[in-house]
Amino acid sequence: MSEHDRRALRDHWDRLSALDPDRSIIDPNDRRGHKNRYLAGLRDTAMLESLLDVPAGSVLLDYGCGSGSGSRTLLQAGWQVIGLDISTPLLQQARTRCAGHADHAMFATTDGRTVPLADGSIAAAITYGVLIYCVSDEELVHLLGEFRRALQPGGRLILVEQVKRQDRIAEQGLKRFRTIEAWHRHLTDAGFSVDRSTVLRHGRFPGTIALQRGLVPRALWRGMAKLERLVGAAGVAPWDYADVRLVARAPSA
Ligand SMILES: C[S@@+](CC[C@H](N)C(=O)[O-])C[C@H]1O[C@@H](n2cnc3c(N)ncnc32)[C@H](O)[C@@H]1O
Repeated sequence: MSEHDRRALRDHWDRLSALDPDRSIIDPNDRRGHKNRYLAGLRDTAMLESLLDVPAGSVLLDYGCGSGSGSRTLLQAGWQVIGLDISTPLLQQARTRCAGHADHAMFATTDGRTVPLADGSIAAAITYGVLIYCVSDEELVHLLGEFRRALQPGGRLILVEQVKRQDRIAEQGLKRFRTIEAWHRHLTDAGFSVDRSTVLRHGRFPGTIALQRGLVPRALWRGMAKLERLVGAAGVAPWDYADVRLVARAPSA
């Protein structure tokens, strides 16, 4: 990525930080907030169920933490969190959102290419909707290698990223949908072994559109999330994108 593109990406996220802290990092068009709350809940469930055996108090990296929505969930669950992001105004929102856990949280800017942490210093790392903005394969594998370096031996990397059936660049070159197979390949190239990948939801699932309009009562959200995963088990639909969770592991020694 050229310096110009890097600045364009940072400006994009800095601009979005003018919105409320959920619209800025999930769906800016969700004015009522239902869809963003639902998607944040899906993200949190997907992260937490992949971290069940990571001891409380361990240090986790929330890479591309944005306004700290996922970081707060990790802090509430009893872990320590380092949040890194390219956007200074979003990090400021994260500090505010996680102020109640200030003793266990640290938020800092990154250049988007490196992980400024010591070797073997984190028990697990997560990303949600971040690496899709890493368009170059070479830079992606380099960044994944940075995660591997910063993870303890055997440490876990959990990615929730958007995929398609075919590789596609979107949003004026800022974003790249990869296939699940490409994610497996890049993780392997960076030295990880991939435990599993799970399709969590499809972008245009009709239930989500109804939910966004306020037509799905809160009591049904959990059932809808289960239904989305059931549908996802059939794979990525040819006409849609899907949110996929990949769980990968750094080498043990
Ligand atoms: C869709 S938002 C998701 C925010 C957060 N992960 C969450 O769960 O709410 C994507 C975030 O990734 C950040 N980002 C994009 N590319 C990045 C990179 N190469 N390194 C670090 N952060 C990046 C953006 O600034 C933005 O905060």
